[in-house]
Amino acid sequence: MTNLFSAPCKPLLQWYQTDLRDLPWRHTSEPYRIWVSEIMLQQTQVKTVLPRYQQWFQTFPNIQQLATAPLDNVLKAWEGLGYYRRARFIHAAAQQIIDKHNGIFPEQFEDILNLPGIGKSTAGAITSFCFDMNTPVLDGNVKRVLKRWHKQPEASDKQLWHFAQTAIDASQNPAMWNQAMMELGATLCQARSAKCETCPVSKHCKSAFSNIEEQPSNKKKAPVKDVFWQINLHTHPNKGLWLQQRPEKGIWAGLWTPPIIELPQKPEYSPCHIHLLTHRRLHLYTKEIATKPTTEGIWVKQLSEFALPTGIHHLFEKQSILDTAISK
Ligand code: ADE
Repeated sequence: MTNLFSAPCKPLLQWYQTDLRDLPWRHTSEPYRIWVSEIMLQQTQVKTVLPRYQQWFQTFPNIQQLATAPLDNVLKAWEGLGYYRRARFIHAAAQQIIDKHNGIFPEQFEDILNLPGIGKSTAGAITSFCFDMNTPVLDGNVKRVLKRWHKQPEASDKQLWHFAQTAIDASQNPAMWNQAMMELGATLCQARSAKCETCPVSKHCKSAFSNIEEQPSNKKKAPVKDVFWQINLHTHPNKGLWLQQRPEKGIWAGLWTPPIIELPQKPEYSPCHIHLLTHRRLHLYTKEIATKPTTEGIWVKQLSEFALPTGIHHLFEKQSILDTAISK
């Protein structure tokens, strides 16, 4: 059968084998390693994930050690990767694997889908890479590639899952197929530039060389809200800096920061640092406080022992006053 689905398989797989980026998770089919890579890569760029990926396995060499570690240690290992909900999910999923699967990463698609933090696309990646199942990945990159191939910029997710399934079924190499589709989307068939001249499947693509820009999503994006936070800095020459743990829900959940007060309106003076999150622009104003802290918290001399949000790290880099009180 040669059609829009099967014809691109060979050239795409060939291209992948010669042009692939050498990434560590491409050298293993061990479920624990694949799972961690896929969760890290869900919302974080490859270049940010790379150094953190290797470190992770030094901290948590196996699922048992991850499951029994305190959540604080898991958050610390996740520091800088953002979207910390994933760290909670990965921790909870490790415990579920111990409780329900005797500590062995499950092989059934439904069992994997039932683990916290794993949706259909991530489950598809894991089952194809580890167990050679014909389960497609459908992340943002793959969606874009499929929409272009079929020249259906408005295709629904249901339609795209169907395209993805038909293509992987025709590929005869699901693990490599999924990697190749992600690679194509990440390197040649990018949102703002489609490099059709070098694309191995351009002759099968209904949108090739047509200068297509990704359609702006018609889903309404939640607006970014400005918030103004006063960061209270209590320092002590011997004891360090006063930090408290953020509540379990909300921005920076479970991470450690100096006490924060939300200001009712924008102050007259400039913020010390602005940190952008998906739905919030945090304007951070530091205030040095001479009196003893009255909020819950602890004195910290060695910041590196705690998981702090990247926005607070950046703020501290600008705030050299802290240098005498703390070590980073
Ligand atoms: N993004 C999500 N999964 C990926 C993978 N396995 N390789 C590269 N980028 C990815």
